[in-house]
Amino acid sequence: MRIARRDERPKRPDAIKPGAVLAHVGGCLPIMNRSQNAIVQFDNVGLRYGTGKEVLGDLSFTLYPGSFYFLTGASGAGKTSLLRLLYLAQRPSRGMIRMFGTDVITLPRARLPSFRRRLGVVFQDFRLVGHLSAFDNVALPLRVAGVADEDLQKPVSEMLDWVGLTDRADARPATLSGGEQQRVAIARAVIGRPDMLIADEPTGNVDPEMAVKLLRLFEALNRLGTTVVVATHDLHLLKKVPESLIMRLDKGRLTDPTGALRYPPRRDVGAV
Ligand SMILES: Nc1ncnc2c1ncn2[C@@H]1O[C@H](COP(=O)(O)OP(=O)(O)OP(=O)(O)O)[C@@H](O)[C@H]1O
Ligand SMILES: [Mg+2]
Repeated sequence: MRIARRDERPKRPDAIKPGAVLAHVGGCLPIMNRSQNAIVQFDNVGLRYGTGKEVLGDLSFTLYPGSFYFLTGASGAGKTSLLRLLYLAQRPSRGMIRMFGTDVITLPRARLPSFRRRLGVVFQDFRLVGHLSAFDNVALPLRVAGVADEDLQKPVSEMLDWVGLTDRADARPATLSGGEQQRVAIARAVIGRPDMLIADEPTGNVDPEMAVKLLRLFEALNRLGTTVVVATHDLHLLKKVPESLIMRLDKGRLTDPTGALRYPPRRDVGAV
């Protein structure tokens, strides 16, 4: 059997195209593409920092492909800590975590980058690369994936346009406002169409109108198959995505107001 050379193979649509994405928003595609296979499984997970008390405890839940989750809870409840476990920046103090079917606790460090490449992360503090322009920050995941420079221009420009930053493409992060930096961070996280998008308070620095627009981007990505996890304490946002499932953290423990943690996941109308 002859294996096709890389350049003979059909091109994977690596970059999310906002134009195409828009067509899906409110369109006629199935709302969610849930298969029965878990994308993430936590079993009795706990986390303490150093010798302090546990900030997360008894976390047992499953995330399903193609679902849209909100993670809510008061400041200090543990949302960022839980997301850090999800994007593999932190190992738990106890319990088991499986991701994409693999035990990530015992996974050799050398194999972690290949898992992280399947994730898009919007950090609460953005973490843009300071010496790169907005354009180059957004282009980063595509460059890492080996996309050639001539193929970058269109998707990155479209993405910057979508988040309203065409005029700021050449600006370094230090010269951008908080909301502008947040939008660059979001564009960078979604452009590679990750298997899972993990966003920590992604609309905390933008006005309500832009917040809704960014949520539409997440929904569009979700409709293309990405599992989305958004941490927020803005309860207004939850109502903007009717299909979303809600996980609530209360002092490091999960409660289950909309059936997010049930199998199969189900949102009870009016439960929020
Ligand atoms: N690196 C750390 N070292 C020690 N304690 C930490 C660390 N990071 C977080 N904590 C503690 O863990 C708890 C949960 O913090 P976390 O940042 O996960 O909360 P959060 O829900 O994201 O809050 P916010 O809504 O303010 O972002 C808090 O009590 C916090 O002080
Ligand atoms: Mg936080």
